[in-house]
Formats: sequence, C-alpha cells, structure tokens
Amino acid sequence: MSEQHNPHEKIEKNVGLLAVLIAVAVSFGGLAEIVPLMYQAEAIQPLPGVKPYPALELAGRDVYVREGCYNCHSQMVRTLRFETERYGHYSLAGESVYDRPFQWGSKRTGPDLARVGGRYSDDWHRVHLLDPRAVVPESNMPSFPWLAENALDGATVQQHMRTLQRLGDPYTDAEVADAAADVQGKTELDAVVAYLQGLGKHAPKGG
Ligand code: HEC
Repeated sequence: MSEQHNPHEKIEKNVGLLAVLIAVAVSFGGLAEIVPLMYQAEAIQPLPGVKPYPALELAGRDVYVREGCYNCHSQMVRTLRFETERYGHYSLAGESVYDRPFQWGSKRTGPDLARVGGRYSDDWHRVHLLDPRAVVPESNMPSFPWLAENALDGATVQQHMRTLQRLGDPYTDAEVADAAADVQGKTELDAVVAYLQGLGKHAPKGG
C-alpha cells in the first residue's frame, strides 16, 4: 500500500503543485471559450453610415452614462412584433460597434430610446430634460436642470476621443484635433440632445 507508483498521488499530496496544475487546466478551458470571441468581435461590421460618435454626441453619451439614464431607459428593440411596431426595426449588433460600453439594458421605467433620434425636436428635448412635466404631465422622469448650466470641458472630450482612437475607433487625427473646438461654448444639455437625436439614425427602416 505504501508504494508510490501512482504519479497522481504525488500531485494530490502537494498542495502547491496541485494548485498550479489546476490553474493550468482551467486556463485551457478559458482559452477555448475566450479566443473565438476575440475573432467574432472583429467579424461584426458597422452598418452603413454608422461612424464613431462626433465630439458633441460623445460628450452627451458620457453625460447620459453619468446621470444613469440607463437605469430607466434601454437602448435595444427586441425582435418582437409589439416592440418593432412601437419603436421601429429591431436592434442590430452593427449599430453598437462604437458603443463602449453599450447601453442596451433591459430596465424600462421609461420607453426604449434606441430609435428616439428625430422623433422630437431639439426644443422638445430641452424642455423635457429640464422639466419633463412641462411636456408630459404624467411623467415621473426626474428633471436634470443642471445640464443647462454645466459647460463642456473640451480637453476631456478630446482625451476621450484620443483614447477611443487608440483602441481602434476610426477617428481621423483631424477629428481628434478639432474635438475641443467642436464643443467650445456648448453645455451638457446641448450634448445630451445631440446624442439623443443621433440614436437610431442609421438603423434599417421599417419594422
Ligand atoms: C427614474 C426613471 C428615469 C430616468 C432616470 C430617466 N428617465 Fe427618461 N423617461 C422616463 C419616463 C417614465 C419617461 C416617459 C414619460 C416622459 O416622456 O417623460 C421618459 C421619457 C424619456 C424620453 C422620451 C422618450 C419617448 O420616446 O417619448 C427621453 C428622450 C428621455 N426620457 C431621456 C432621458 C435621459 C437623457 C435621461 C438621463 C439624463 C433620462 N431620460 C432619465 C423615466 C426616466
């Protein structure tokens, strides 16, 4: 019984070795799952017309994330008839290639916003964001009055764009160089409205 011919016994009696070999075995499983995903991400092409966000819309997107709009609004139309009849064509992966992080979500205290671009005027959005009840009396959406008072910081927007460019988003150097000037004198409210008006712009038409 005391013979030690079984190499497994050596491993089982040596906790350090056991831990290392478990890590090796598990990482093989991880590689098999993760590596194919890396190639898949490259295979998803942007839909025609889908480009990285212009400076003002990018800034608006940051405000959207900061204010937690995603806690009440999804940005994903599901492949269900009652959804496509209400919002428009269901969402496609090629619309979100430049969304880092994406805002799909599933929490809908308010309506889905994936197709809201162009549905209302800029003025409607301005009034609605500052005081939702002024245009939708029964609304329980919070007011965001500070957006009109906060000026955008051009340097931050430019840095954000440069980072995205390094990560592979096809911004030209000129676009990055002009980013600060593009948002000069604009408020966070201008930015969010620009962002909202761009949502769904390049989605396929119809249900
Ligand atoms: C506490 C939940 C809540 C939060 C947070 C919230 N909303 Fe809303 N939102 C709603 C509700 C409810 C409605 C529907 C009533 C209305 O139109 O005001 C709505 C409606 C909207 C609409 C009109 C959509 C349509 O198709 O009619 C837009 C645009 C919108 N919200 C944008 C935003 C933005 C941008 C933010 C973040 C700055 C935000 N919301 C944060 C609840 C919320």
